[in-house]
Amino acid sequence: MALNVVVMAAGKGTRMKSALPKVLHRIGGRSLLQHVLDAASGLGAAHTVVITGHGAEQVEAAIAGSGASAVRQLPQLGTGHAIQQVVPVLADANPVTLILNGDVPLIRTETAAALVAACAGTQLALLTITLADASGYGRIVRSAGGAAVLGIVEHKDATPAQRAIGEIYTGIMAAPTAWLKRAVMALKNDNAQREYYLTDIVAMAVADGMPVVASATPSETEVLGVNSPLQLADLERRHQRTQAEALMEAGVRLRDPARFDQRGSLQCGADVEIDVNCIFEGRVRLADGVRIGAHCVLRDADIGASAVIHPFSHIDGAVVGEGALVGPFARLRPGAVLGAEVHIGNFVEVKNATLAAGAKANHLAYLGDATVGERVNFGAGSITANYDGANKHRTVIGADAHIGSNCVLVAPVVIGEGATVGGGSTVSKDAPAGQLTVARARQATITAWKRPKKAPKG
Ligand code: UD1
Ligand code: MG
Repeated sequence: MALNVVVMAAGKGTRMKSALPKVLHRIGGRSLLQHVLDAASGLGAAHTVVITGHGAEQVEAAIAGSGASAVRQLPQLGTGHAIQQVVPVLADANPVTLILNGDVPLIRTETAAALVAACAGTQLALLTITLADASGYGRIVRSAGGAAVLGIVEHKDATPAQRAIGEIYTGIMAAPTAWLKRAVMALKNDNAQREYYLTDIVAMAVADGMPVVASATPSETEVLGVNSPLQLADLERRHQRTQAEALMEAGVRLRDPARFDQRGSLQCGADVEIDVNCIFEGRVRLADGVRIGAHCVLRDADIGASAVIHPFSHIDGAVVGEGALVGPFARLRPGAVLGAEVHIGNFVEVKNATLAAGAKANHLAYLGDATVGERVNFGAGSITANYDGANKHRTVIGADAHIGSNCVLVAPVVIGEGATVGGGSTVSKDAPAGQLTVARARQATITAWKRPKKAPKG
């Protein structure tokens, strides 16, 4: 059924105490508003509109390109007033209008779809939940038998008896479009907060003979709102738990699902193990049998089968080949491409460099803007000097070359296949294949030299 979706996002979010508009704070790497838009996108809405107000420029910039349009609400005179602003853009041709909250991010597409189906263009459908502590929320007031919904009363306007009601309105509803438009234009603000309450349309529906259905959701997580940093962090953990459970159901072994953070897409093969406190950002792919040690951060990374990433490694924009060993304390930066069985050890940084199969840099090294051949051994403390202060230059190291410790390869420079570079060399000219190149002062022994002696104290 053709659908309008309205996302309310004009509110201030005072309790976040942040310059960033509330709906742009993030959970799992995506803004709260993006979560709502992503859930809505699964509904195939004909039109999606976001109501902006506080921080409107920033919020509108954030949704540019999402397909949703924006309508501003200035000033903010309540949720009913917010919906009044979109009345001119809600097409009657779409018989259902779904209202979502920009600060209730974890609503699932299935739950929203069920509400739309319950509305069916002929009934007002409210998403409700029963809470142990309902304070602050609008209460669902039912008839004596409990079958019929009579209205919603806001906490500030509720009598003590009404405040005892546990069933609350979640802020999410689906309404017949043409009726909704008429109803919100008739709202009044004669209440405790001098606001236009969207929730007053429920009593209007009852008076109009428009059927009202309240669907209770069992999932608190889906309808919790974010008003404070504490609630933001709580929903982050709930969201991470949901993602962790999906991975574990697919066979991924998370050492502790409570210490796992996925802030993008994470695709895992069979027999993947992830130790505690790892963060995955952007698009990460872990092939079969990959093991990720504790405290690693991986962003936009592709890790080949059976590779092992040891603890405290940082991988960003890199490809790691099958069976490679990385870390502990390794840093792979954008453009690092490691072949099969490559070993990158502790305190080794690789940037914009290709290492062919079997190459090793096991300790304290920098490989930047380099092409490294198969089985090359790059010694401890050695670096490519790739930057002359203005331009970057490339280092090419042929297969089976052996670079000793503490070498500086001053790019552009080519080390031939099978070449050996003596430890401590500063190499600024090409080193021929198969030969030993040494570029350091010769060792000398001064035979007649005497160590100075201190004069005895007088
Ligand atoms: C609202 C409901 C309450 C429900 C609760 C669920 C009303 C009158 N009350 O109360 O029944 O239990 O949500 O969380 O609707 N907004 C605007 N413009 C405004 C005011 C609000 O866009 O002028 C947006 C806010 O950004 C927010 C949403 O509407 O996304 C809800 O507003 P909020 O002020 O949080 O309403 P509550 O008082 O919590
Ligand atoms: Mg609220």
